[in-house]
Amino acid sequence: MKQPTSEATVLVWDGGLRIFHWSLAASVTGAWATQELGPAYMDWHMAFGCAALALVVWRLAWGFVGPRTARFSDFVRPPREMTAYVNSLRSGPKQRFSGHNPLGAFSVVAMLALVLIQALTGLGNSDDIFFDGPWHHVLPDSVSDRLSYIHSVNFWILVTLIALHVGAIFAHWLFLRENLVVPMLSGKKPRRETAEGTGIAGQKPGLALALALASAALVGLLVGLAPEPPPMDFDMF
Ligand code: HEM
Ligand code: HEM
Repeated sequence: MKQPTSEATVLVWDGGLRIFHWSLAASVTGAWATQELGPAYMDWHMAFGCAALALVVWRLAWGFVGPRTARFSDFVRPPREMTAYVNSLRSGPKQRFSGHNPLGAFSVVAMLALVLIQALTGLGNSDDIFFDGPWHHVLPDSVSDRLSYIHSVNFWILVTLIALHVGAIFAHWLFLRENLVVPMLSGKKPRRETAEGTGIAGQKPGLALALALASAALVGLLVGLAPEPPPMDFDMF
């Protein structure tokens, strides 16, 4: 007999985490696209970059106070568990997870760290002609040059990881017959695809919103507290 929908699916991702995910994907894509469009779009580049920074700050806090599947303690595992999981894909019974699997967990942490580095280095970066990050002029040239270098190299590491991320999700669908995208949209997974039908009980929307406001305020302060750049010295012309 067909089970009622409420029993056939289990809530595994809370609403805050889903909004976070798709907003992060949009901000990172927006930051990349706007710097490709040229100097006229650098204000937008900074806006998308700062949005990505606020989202990661939110996610770091959510990893401690959010529902079970969002918590770092639920999915960050020692490397040997990651290796065991990869080996288990070739043989043995298929393991099910309500949240991130050990390999996915590694890429989650790495992507969050890379976006954080990308956005923080951007704050001290400059194109040396049209646009400076808000903290650029208070840093010695040697430091801002280093940040600029990290900003350009780290971006390609991030792009590689995002490509692997999307590739792994496609491989899950192709080889393991598991659609991970629908749960990241709806929050729900078929019960048979979770670990013993376990999901999350509450989504804590009030706390998620309060943290979102606090994260945005923190990034606003980080940008707003940067001292005004000194006036341009036109005597040199
Ligand atoms: C710039 C692009 C992207 C970035 C930076 C990104 C980043 C992330 C991060 C950080 C997570 C972990 C979520 C969390 O626990 O906080 C995640 C999970 C996930 N992402 Fe993305 N993502 C991107 C694009 C995409 C795209 C295009 C898709 C759809 C094909 C996608 C599908 C998913 C899915 C299904 C999960 C959950 C994986 C699981 O079940 O363990 N992501 N992504
Ligand atoms: C996730 C967020 C971000 C991404 C993905 C990103 C990506 C990029 C990329 C790909 C470049 C071109 C690098 C090169 O090839 O030289 C760039 C340049 C730049 N970014 Fe970002 N960025 C982000 C955040 C920020 C933030 C928050 C700022 C702060 C204002 C910023 C400031 C700059 C500046 C000033 C440049 C010009 C550097 C140059 O032309 O040499 N970025 N960014």
